[in-house]
Amino acid sequence: MVKLLFIGDIIGRPGRRAVASLLPGLKAEHGFDLVIANGENAAGGFGITSKIADELFGLGIDVLTSGNHIWDQKEVEAYLRGDNRLLRPANYPVGDLGRGSLVISPAQLPQVKIGVVNLAGRVFVGPADCPFREGREVIEKLKPETDIVVVDFHAETTSEKNALGLYLDGLVSLFVGTHTHVQTADERILPGGTAYITDVGMVGGRNSVIGMKSDRVIKKFLDGMPQRYEVEKSEPWFSAVIAEIDESSGRALSIRRLNLPA
Ligand SMILES: [Fe+2]
Ligand SMILES: [Fe+2]
Repeated sequence: MVKLLFIGDIIGRPGRRAVASLLPGLKAEHGFDLVIANGENAAGGFGITSKIADELFGLGIDVLTSGNHIWDQKEVEAYLRGDNRLLRPANYPVGDLGRGSLVISPAQLPQVKIGVVNLAGRVFVGPADCPFREGREVIEKLKPETDIVVVDFHAETTSEKNALGLYLDGLVSLFVGTHTHVQTADERILPGGTAYITDVGMVGGRNSVIGMKSDRVIKKFLDGMPQRYEVEKSEPWFSAVIAEIDESSGRALSIRRLNLPA
């Protein structure tokens, strides 16, 4: 059995602090074989830098996924080209700038290989190639190496996430949605054996608008004027899912949501 932790979008310094305070205890309690997190908002809410990626890896995260905010910090482009464990969506039309998938072996289980694939949605977000066709192709390329594949589908709409999850059911072990920063309560094992949740949620301020101070966002809704958004620092919460996978078949055995005050 392989035990995975997937942490939702980490928002700025309060999110990083929440990971630093909770992850060691969770790791000691559960003994995860692999920890994956979405880091697209780790730098002040907008993107991620090489320094922050290294900081998050240093906190015990093994693989970082991302999404539409991945290009917010120009500096990260060189890092994405390097040999590290920060992914950008595999279906972004950006050629060889970074990679969208990898295969990794847990330190304590060197005989086990786990594939991680990052995909982006196309509804109400930026340009991307088809996550269905491209996603399936990327996953099928990993299959000769491993039956354990985790997908982070960074997308806005519930319907696109439902559809891709069911399209990939049986082909992947864990399918999680990210990007809305609001955790959904629909975690389950799909008929083909894929553990699924529409959105993992975030590590960020509970009383915020998707991690940002609410007053600015409310003002923008009221008057339509551009606002400088700022990360909400109070009451950070840690949202994640824990999944157990049968390593011989790649089928999920369980999925459980976490929503913890940090
Ligand atoms: Fe995000
Ligand atoms: Fe996003």
